[in-house]
Amino acid sequence: MQSKPFTMKQDPSTDIDIVKATSSKIESVDFENLKFGHIFTDHMMECDYEDGAWKAPVIRPYGNISLEPSAKVFHYGQAVFEGMKAYKDEDDKIWLFRPDENFRRINLSSKRLAIPEFPEEYFFSSLEELLKLDREWIKKGFGNSLYIRPFVIATEAGVQASPGNKYKFMIICSPAKSYYTGEVRVQISEKYSRAADGGVGAAKAAGNYGAQFYPTNLAKESGFQQIIWTDASTHDFLEEAGTMNVFFRINDTLLTAPVNDRILDGVTRKSILALAEKNGINAEVRRVTVKEVLEAQQQGTLKEIFGAGTAAVINPIQGFGYKGERYELPGIENSYASLFKDKLMKIQYNLAEDPFGWRYLVKE
Ligand SMILES: Cc1ncc(COP(=O)(O)O)c(C=O)c1O
Repeated sequence: MQSKPFTMKQDPSTDIDIVKATSSKIESVDFENLKFGHIFTDHMMECDYEDGAWKAPVIRPYGNISLEPSAKVFHYGQAVFEGMKAYKDEDDKIWLFRPDENFRRINLSSKRLAIPEFPEEYFFSSLEELLKLDREWIKKGFGNSLYIRPFVIATEAGVQASPGNKYKFMIICSPAKSYYTGEVRVQISEKYSRAADGGVGAAKAAGNYGAQFYPTNLAKESGFQQIIWTDASTHDFLEEAGTMNVFFRINDTLLTAPVNDRILDGVTRKSILALAEKNGINAEVRRVTVKEVLEAQQQGTLKEIFGAGTAAVINPIQGFGYKGERYELPGIENSYASLFKDKLMKIQYNLAEDPFGWRYLVKE
């Protein structure tokens, strides 16, 4: 048992135990030179599922957890996660962006992996307490944020291939700067797939990411930074870029694939589609073929490709490879990529009106 230097009951209705760190690491952190996802804040949230119920969440100092080597997560990959961010505005208010979507999605992911769903009240109350406790880690300034990583793992000991009856839901947080990823060129996948029909592609299941590393390494050896994943059965349809949803601009029309059981229902993707509608940009949500993108490239009408996801918001793609050929995009002024990135970030940082009601204030 971890000793408790200081405990207080924060809110009797949610019964969160808070164990504060006796000292903070924050002074040792160089916030100007953060490498994404390497440094974690002083506290974390931990909540155990046992005997058919989630116990009260605990917030305690960030640190190791102890599991038996036979814990099911290590053997059968029952693990799902989320990625979201908190932002601080000029008045020191802390904001989240569409957190209800992340909450909904982690439970969809859990359901697909036979993990018990997590209570909404626990998710929001413990996340807000955690953010308030580690508020100094959220730096002001456009581009600064706190990356939030909720995740769930099967902790039951035993190597029989069956769903566990013990789980751990955790939230850890890592300070982040807006990062420039350098030029990104992508290889359109002709062989490997990220997800299959009826599989777990629509879930943020840890195994989806582990399975991407090897083909992505091969693409890197060929001089690309990422892969554009195509559908598993024909490789004719463009689905996702690395760990982002992908958009194409042909002439002035925005194209992106509809979500299905192979594609993650990205929060950034759906926000871009709403912004496109509001800004009078024609967007088509339909299957996008490799063939039409190649034809548009040859005709000079393929103006942009970009990835969309929480970590980088929007990641413009400079070029792509397919069947041994390499293609370069023109690189245009007034790109949709920069328009959407600016509009989204201004909403996230409370610098613009939020007509959609996406911003969520963390109450003091
Ligand atoms: C496979 C995949 N697609 C798309 C996304 C983008 O989703 P979101 O915009 O919700 O971050 C992510 C990242 O979370 C992802 O891992």
